[in-house]
Amino acid sequence: MNRFDDQTVLVTGGTGGQGSSHVRAFHAEGANVVIGDIDAERGAALADELGPRARFTRLDVTDESSWSAAVLAAESAFGALNVLVNNAGVQNPPATIEDTEQATWSRILDINLTGTFLGIKVAAPALRRATGGAIVNIASTMGLGGTAHYAPYVASKWAVRGLTRTAALELGRDHIRVNTIHPGVIATPFIQEPAAGATAAIADFYSPEPFAIPRLGEPTDVTRLLLFLTSSDASFITGSEYVIDGGLLLGPALQTEAA
Ligand SMILES: NC(=O)c1ccc[n+]([C@@H]2O[C@H](COP(=O)([O-])OP(=O)(O)OC[C@H]3O[C@@H](n4cnc5c(N)ncnc54)[C@H](O)[C@@H]3O)[C@@H](O)[C@H]2O)c1
Repeated sequence: MNRFDDQTVLVTGGTGGQGSSHVRAFHAEGANVVIGDIDAERGAALADELGPRARFTRLDVTDESSWSAAVLAAESAFGALNVLVNNAGVQNPPATIEDTEQATWSRILDINLTGTFLGIKVAAPALRRATGGAIVNIASTMGLGGTAHYAPYVASKWAVRGLTRTAALELGRDHIRVNTIHPGVIATPFIQEPAAGATAAIADFYSPEPFAIPRLGEPTDVTRLLLFLTSSDASFITGSEYVIDGGLLLGPALQTEAA
């Protein structure tokens, strides 16, 4: 008996560094998986590799009709949708607020925030039809403070927190739990490759060395927390926020010697 036998899970950004880790882990624990992403090549390859309990659906999270098609794909293939992971996300090219184009601001908010809103909106009726389920929204430690030159990203992730809490209140009586995960710096293309319109990647200037756990996070670190939060072990947890950052938010662990 696996934790997610007979459950169907939709992961957005499901071909990415963290998303593909989540998809593989849910699948390994018995779930049917629906991989939602704009990258059709990687999505089809991952679904092929996983076999009959996996489907790829081309999902642009900013498009409501694309969401309806993804939820329909899950219910048609597997009979129900039980878990939604709003994981798709993009960062802005670093710039001060004064130097940020409105188009950049809107693009980041559309994907990270409106995409999450649409996911909850369209998936909630399906989760209700399944007599309950779980939603996890992936925010960021940047959604817990301020980060210079990342205003669109920071604002989008802060807003996801309010959306999570509101959704938890609206959906709790329908046995649908909604929680947020705030990853720190995780080793994926997100930090290893420059954002669209940028020249440097976060990994070019970030080092985990001063922090309590001096390594980058791995996608599987986040995956293990996600699987707990979406499992029946977390049946009394909703509207909550989980930081998984190796102590990044604590600040540097290395102190100068006392004089
Ligand atoms: N890697 C980190 O350090 C880090 C830290 C904190 C939070 N996060 C968040 O974790 C989540 C996953 O990021 P990752 O590290 O796996 O990055 P990633 O770049 O590897 O994956 C992001 C995925 O989102 C997909 N995507 C982009 N736009 C989309 C759209 N409009 N519709 C559907 N899919 C779309 C991409 O194709 C990609 O597969 C994101 O929400 C990100 O903001 C990442």
